[in-house]
Amino acid sequence: MSLDSHAWWQTGIIYQIYPRSFMDSDGDGTGDLPGIISKLDYLQWLGIEGVWVSPFFRSPMADFGYDVSDYCDIEPVFGTMDDFDRLVSEAHERGLKIILDFVPNHTSEQHSWFLESASSRDNPRRDWYIWRDAKANGDPPNNWVSHFGGIAWEWHKPTQQYYLHSFLKEQPDLNWRNPDVVEAMLGALRFWLERGVDGFRVDVMWETIKDEQLRDNPPNPRYEEGKTHPYFKVLPLYNHDQPEIHEIIGEMRRLFEKYPGDRVLIGEIYLPIDRLVTYYGTNGDGAHMPFNFQLILQKWEARRLATMIDQYEAALPPHGWPNWVLGNHDRERIASRVGRAQARVAAMLLLTLRGTPTIYYGEELGMEDVEIPPERVVDPPQAYGIGRDPERTPMQWTSGPGAGFTTGDPWLPIATDFARYNVESEKADETSFLALHKRLIELRQSEPALQVGSYEPITTEGDVLAYEREYKGERFVIALNLGSGPEMAVVEGLSGTVGVSTHMDRAGEAVDGELELRGDEGVVVRVT
Ligand code: GLC
Repeated sequence: MSLDSHAWWQTGIIYQIYPRSFMDSDGDGTGDLPGIISKLDYLQWLGIEGVWVSPFFRSPMADFGYDVSDYCDIEPVFGTMDDFDRLVSEAHERGLKIILDFVPNHTSEQHSWFLESASSRDNPRRDWYIWRDAKANGDPPNNWVSHFGGIAWEWHKPTQQYYLHSFLKEQPDLNWRNPDVVEAMLGALRFWLERGVDGFRVDVMWETIKDEQLRDNPPNPRYEEGKTHPYFKVLPLYNHDQPEIHEIIGEMRRLFEKYPGDRVLIGEIYLPIDRLVTYYGTNGDGAHMPFNFQLILQKWEARRLATMIDQYEAALPPHGWPNWVLGNHDRERIASRVGRAQARVAAMLLLTLRGTPTIYYGEELGMEDVEIPPERVVDPPQAYGIGRDPERTPMQWTSGPGAGFTTGDPWLPIATDFARYNVESEKADETSFLALHKRLIELRQSEPALQVGSYEPITTEGDVLAYEREYKGERFVIALNLGSGPEMAVVEGLSGTVGVSTHMDRAGEAVDGELELRGDEGVVVRVT
């Protein structure tokens, strides 16, 4: 449902698919595009609108697809170009949109561009990547640190220079100061836009261009060995959030606007709110939605979250449409972070806040992180204690063999409790996680107040987060108990009926002035 002047990505819900783990159609243990196609009916039933698929392009898989060796082709394990075209057309037939993942900061070391660039110092593509001489003593050109730990420079013996890699050494950073790089990468976007994709999520958008002089980053005075993430050993002053990034995003945005339909430009951006909102654009400029990771980053406490939501709402520019994310393929799953009972409250929060929600596959089932035995670990940053395998395990479809995900050996272990937490079983249980999601999504998508209405915080006491959503006189009050003990939410003048409780048992109950909340309970009240 699109309301008034709102675009689909404002009224719709986004769902992230990690393609290796969603559905395997051919029994090789890895998910693929035909697998996704076979589950489009499920996504339509769930009521989401935008399907963001993490990378499935040609890749040696050093970082499971975030190391691209050809931006305009598909890695065979995921399928073929025909499968892709079918994915787009079958999604569109069901009113679903397809959002792809664009990785502009770096390529794979196996990309032909890098192979050429590394072949000699005077190769025409040398300057497509960031090469520098060693310091006089042989040290790397500066003190920048890779996101996966260790120095961000790799010595290349054959040509006697270092190259920059903000992630793995298999992921050399592109030089976006070179106009040929800009042109080639816009060409890759064009390729998929022509094939009908409805938008892109842009990987590490805020870091894509670096300080021209590659100055040393300042030391981080708060860094503690073993406690602070290794990336923050130095403060990333000169390798992220550079003013020139906005020119590049503008180029992308203008390209998107050449195509019919509302193609959406979303940015992966981990920055404080005041910086994050500078990535919003209007026509011809900026992103439509810089991903807002505040629900992932903030401590799970009512007062903190309430303050953060207020700050975010206040910081949004007039044209800035809000959005919220609870989890993704890089972060601990919400059900593991706050516990399964509280994760239901988190779902209610995500689906009733003002702004586009993004659901990470399996979140709707209450999937937790899966403990990975050492011999099954595959994510490379594991060495630094930040491995991401636990949140990337296969989607749980049924209680049958392979959780209905695969008939073969799954590439990552399947959760041991999959027999209980899976689509089939949860569809049959009126109180399940999935039932709660389905109900909340239905409510959001049928009620303009929840979909596009205003947000007004309500002051409460204890560990309760409360707010009101309103549109043309229709009002809903949401009260969420973020603690495990009972709470009383006193909301002056409140009168109405319960629409949904996270416990799925109070619908229709009359509410007058105050609302008793059980531990880990959230309630949506329709105000009368
Ligand atoms: C982003 C991705 C992450 C990847 C990294 C390098 O943060 O979400 O999975 O490893 O970029 O591309």
